[in-house]
Amino acid sequence: MILENPRKITTKVIQRMKKDGEKISALTAYDYIIANMLDEVGIDIILVGDSLGNVFQGQETTLPVTVDEIIYHTKAVRKGVKRALLVVDMPFLSYQISIEDAIRNCGRVLKETGAEAVKIEGGKPMLPTIKRLVEVGIPVMGHLGLTPQSIHKFGSYDVRGKQKQEAESILQDAKALEQVGVFSLVLEKIPSSLAKKVTNSISIPTIGIGAGPYCDGQILVVYDMLGMFEDFQPKFVRKYAELSKTMKNAFRNYIKDIKTGNFPSKEESF
Ligand code: KIV
Repeated sequence: MILENPRKITTKVIQRMKKDGEKISALTAYDYIIANMLDEVGIDIILVGDSLGNVFQGQETTLPVTVDEIIYHTKAVRKGVKRALLVVDMPFLSYQISIEDAIRNCGRVLKETGAEAVKIEGGKPMLPTIKRLVEVGIPVMGHLGLTPQSIHKFGSYDVRGKQKQEAESILQDAKALEQVGVFSLVLEKIPSSLAKKVTNSISIPTIGIGAGPYCDGQILVVYDMLGMFEDFQPKFVRKYAELSKTMKNAFRNYIKDIKTGNFPSKEESF
């Protein structure tokens, strides 16, 4: 696929974009139809996020998501993606137990889905695992700041890195992740001043979510930016549509048309 399509976004292209000062656009996707639309309009990175636990499965946290579920969604997304870099979020406990386990699970995800990279949450404790994954040829995107798989340790979804000590540890983790070979780094819900410092201290691109304007790129959960949830309005999400309202109106009109005998019409019948 890379050889057939010279405009294909690879991990190397993503890294070059930082050097060229070109901002990186990224969104999550969990199904074929949205992935296909994103790819067609030129998104740079599509992440099959374990946020699917929240927005697709309706779970409280991302912790219950399994490797089989991530593979199922990524196979569907893969069918819709030709140009964008396809990254897969590795679920909780699929990479933390041992290096061997991480290679087996990340390798399986790449083999079975055709995705091109994995994303792994965490800093210092994950360094030996990430180093080994990169050594065996599995590109890794890092993830620091608010790492949702650690929600029970944090106790809330509040902004991370506000205190000096935690800010310093995020900065040191970012530098260490660059050293072990991650090709890019997600920074979630940290102060924009800290995101700026991290972005200026490493040569790999930072992709922010709730981390302000100084990151090299931005990512959002696709259903959030489409306005699919009327009750979920975090400060860092810009809604580019109000699909919840539009869809509910469509559903209401459909129900009404059936009840009143207005659908199907003669033209819609055989
Ligand atoms: O799971 C996810 O969707 C993510 C992004 C929001 C970065 O990790």
